Amino acid sequence: MKGILLAGGSGTRLHPMTLAASKQLLPVYDKPMVYYPLSTLMLAGIRDILVITTPADQESFVRLLGDGSRLGISISYAVQPKPEGIAQAFLIGRRFLAGSPCTLALGDNLVHGEGMGGLLAQAARRERGATVFAYQVRDPERYGVVWFDHEGRATDLREKPANPTSNWAVIGLYVYDGEVCDIAASIAPSPRGELEITDVNRIYLSRNELAVERLGRGYAWLDAGTPASLLAAATFVHTLQERQGLMIGCPEEVAFRMGFINAEVLAREAASLGSTELGAYLARIAREG
Ligand code: DAU
Repeated sequence: MKGILLAGGSGTRLHPMTLAASKQLLPVYDKPMVYYPLSTLMLAGIRDILVITTPADQESFVRLLGDGSRLGISISYAVQPKPEGIAQAFLIGRRFLAGSPCTLALGDNLVHGEGMGGLLAQAARRERGATVFAYQVRDPERYGVVWFDHEGRATDLREKPANPTSNWAVIGLYVYDGEVCDIAASIAPSPRGELEITDVNRIYLSRNELAVERLGRGYAWLDAGTPASLLAAATFVHTLQERQGLMIGCPEEVAFRMGFINAEVLAREAASLGSTELGAYLARIAREG
């Protein structure tokens, strides 16, 4: 299973913050936003990741993440010249994927909850089809929405429906089989001019090959696309970290816990972070295991 982290887009809803900086590099409390979906991909055991950015921002991502070797993973890069839709990730990433199954993570989505890595690993074991995750929200019209029948089977999917009768939103984390590039290549742009990921998912649904996992109350799903949701995400991370003394969205810790790097490498990472809280936290984990 390979991973794609989509971190392009124009971030217009966050102007002027995103006029000179990539949205996915803005801080969510104490880490750049992209650390959260990157950690999610790594928790799923994925070690080969393509990061797609705007042409202008690629350099900053390379400066932050490098080639991934310090995390025991491989990170490569591609650009999306214009934000022409989430599904375009599969046209840009076709050569990188080379027919391999793929988990796509949106760079502004934060998912947190025990067992998420397991759910993703379980999805990865499905030989055919796609898996998406649904989450109950108060404002489903802002998202891709999924409907279920009485037996809990998905019956329909729509992108930003005007008056949805379902409050289950599809989160920005998708697991696909090796066919996804061909499917993405077969869809046409929507009326808003984008290759919609919901159209890709609708094709899997029409083939009876879409698994929809519902995330219950024990999970948090936040996106950070507006000033208010960015603040909510930061407050969430701050609150949980202060309470538990455990970090959320920390790729160095995930790399260590997943066995991608050893304690020695983690200690080096900790030292490179100097006297920050994160540095002290990683140093403690490297000592205690
Ligand atoms: O957050 C989950 C939702 O993400 C899903 O429920 C929707 O079905 C899906 O369409 C998407 O909706 P958004 O309206 O939130 O998408 P947005 O245009 O904000 O893009 C989400 C992220 O993907 C954002 O970080 C920017 C990045 N992106 C987006 C597009 C359209 C790109 O990198 N390139 C693009 O072309």
